[in-house]
Amino acid sequence: MINIKNLSKSFGKTKVLDKVSLRVKRGEVLGFLGPNGAGKTTTLKAIVGLVWATEGEIVINNLESKNIQSHRHLGYMPEDPYFYEYLTGREFLVFVAELQKINKNNAKEQADELLGLVGLGDETKKYVRNYSKGMRQRLGIAQALVGDPEILLLDEPLDGLDPIGRSEVKNILLDLKKQGKTILISSHILADIEELCDRVAIINKGKIIKSGKISDFIKKGQSLEKAFVKSITNQERSKR
Ligand SMILES: Nc1ncnc2c1ncn2[C@@H]1O[C@H](COP(=O)(O)OP(=O)(O)O)[C@@H](O)[C@H]1O
Ligand SMILES: [Mg+2]
Repeated sequence: MINIKNLSKSFGKTKVLDKVSLRVKRGEVLGFLGPNGAGKTTTLKAIVGLVWATEGEIVINNLESKNIQSHRHLGYMPEDPYFYEYLTGREFLVFVAELQKINKNNAKEQADELLGLVGLGDETKKYVRNYSKGMRQRLGIAQALVGDPEILLLDEPLDGLDPIGRSEVKNILLDLKKQGKTILISSHILADIEELCDRVAIINKGKIIKSGKISDFIKKGQSLEKAFVKSITNQERSKR
């Protein structure tokens, strides 16, 4: 599905990714965890080709990510999705579909289907500028689903939501998981990852410091949070 091998990225002299290797298997949900500034967004951007890696290789469904064909398999929700504020959610999705060369009728059909899926079916006439944060996140997920990609890359999809919004978006993600989508979710919120993901990979300061099944992380009585903090502090200590 996705195979990242020894990915490094520097911005000027600053190395923000240092030999990151990561695999997302077909049909699994991988939680990509790390504190702010760890390199999560940069990794996701490298997968979709918004950032060029300094070194390393990314393979998507047996295609090199440099091959534009590989991008057909990907749906991406950026950290701060940009919307045209003066379009309705429906118009925005139709626009995204048309960018993918989907014909007008199919584009409209998909837009309606996706609005329903993310619970915005009753808001088709509302302009995006009047959307709440939760509605924006849901529209962000919907636009990632245009064209029905096999793989979803979601950058902090639950960030900034209130408890109701989190729970609603989480249910959408659980539904997508049930449909068999392959999903990479970045987050710094452990509880969400624990609920949604099959495996986790922890990144700190541009390095993957741990990865594995959630069940392997959570030893008897130990929460994912404890395991996370422990991995990070061990890494920091070993550097001193
Ligand atoms: N375009 C850029 N130019 C310079 N530094 C950047 C750029 N994008 C990200 N960085 C730096 O790379 C590091 C990792 O950032 P990022 O991938 O956004 O982390 P995360 O998503 O885990 O919070 C940070 O220190 C950030 O400041
Ligand atoms: Mg980020």
